[in-house]
Amino acid sequence: MKRKDILGIKDLSRSEVNELLSTAQTMREMIDVGEKSKELAGKSVATLFYENSTRTRNSFDIAAKNLGASTMGISVATSSVQKGETLVDTGKTLDALKTDMIIIRHPVAGSARLLAETIKASVINAGDGMNEHPSQALLDALTAIRRFGDVEGKKLVIVGDIKHSRVARSNIALFGMLGAAVTVCGPYTLLPDCVDELGCEVEPDFDRAIDGASIVMPLRLQLERMDQAFFSSREEYHEYYGVTARRLRMCADEFMVMHPGPINREAEISGEVADCADSYILEQVTNGVAVRMAMIKLLLGGAK
Ligand code: CP
Repeated sequence: MKRKDILGIKDLSRSEVNELLSTAQTMREMIDVGEKSKELAGKSVATLFYENSTRTRNSFDIAAKNLGASTMGISVATSSVQKGETLVDTGKTLDALKTDMIIIRHPVAGSARLLAETIKASVINAGDGMNEHPSQALLDALTAIRRFGDVEGKKLVIVGDIKHSRVARSNIALFGMLGAAVTVCGPYTLLPDCVDELGCEVEPDFDRAIDGASIVMPLRLQLERMDQAFFSSREEYHEYYGVTARRLRMCADEFMVMHPGPINREAEISGEVADCADSYILEQVTNGVAVRMAMIKLLLGGAK
């Protein structure tokens, strides 16, 4: 892969996506047999997270270590960011520390791109505001491909808080590129203003949206990004937009449930569905390590 950074799915070509997914398949096979590599020995990877994370931060850390790289977790709460240091100055400092790659999560859309354009180190966007979360979309695609062989022609329904979701934006772009038929569903208050421009179908009625779906992807209500009331109660939201066992009966004969996490049981998904045999939520977490190994390997191991 001849690029310095991965900032969004929209930047990637189909051949780059194919290379990432096929490399991730190989990485997943390594994970399954407990194999580690030393090919990135001597490289250093920093995780710089301005927002909370369990899955993304730890799986990038594990992925880098699985490839032999050293890792440095920068805790924004205890770093010089608290003394007023800007993102760019923090990035330049990491450059001066000879860091080869920075994995960044930031609440502001475009911040990963700003960092990438300013520093020498490779940058991977681990989620920037409501813009993109490319590693999440790639791990979702890997999980669906491992389940079905191919997602071309499969119906993916993404339901919930589309408005505040970088996961939705990256998945619409990626699954669309792979030939899936993507439908988004949610209350009007939680659909973005320009939802028609996202390049997918829009169906606000969940019973209609889920009809014939092969992949069902509920999203968490991002209360931390809501400055007003977007729905009346958790119970009412679950009634109209929750993924329940009753609603799964409307799916295609073969289907899967994916959720980027963290899940809120009895809000966007029932506990029964989260734990059912068709739920791939924990499989997504393992595939997250594989995809992130592929991203790091292809950026740091290849020619720029
Ligand atoms: N899906 C996801 O980004 O999870 P974390 O916030 O735990 O990283």
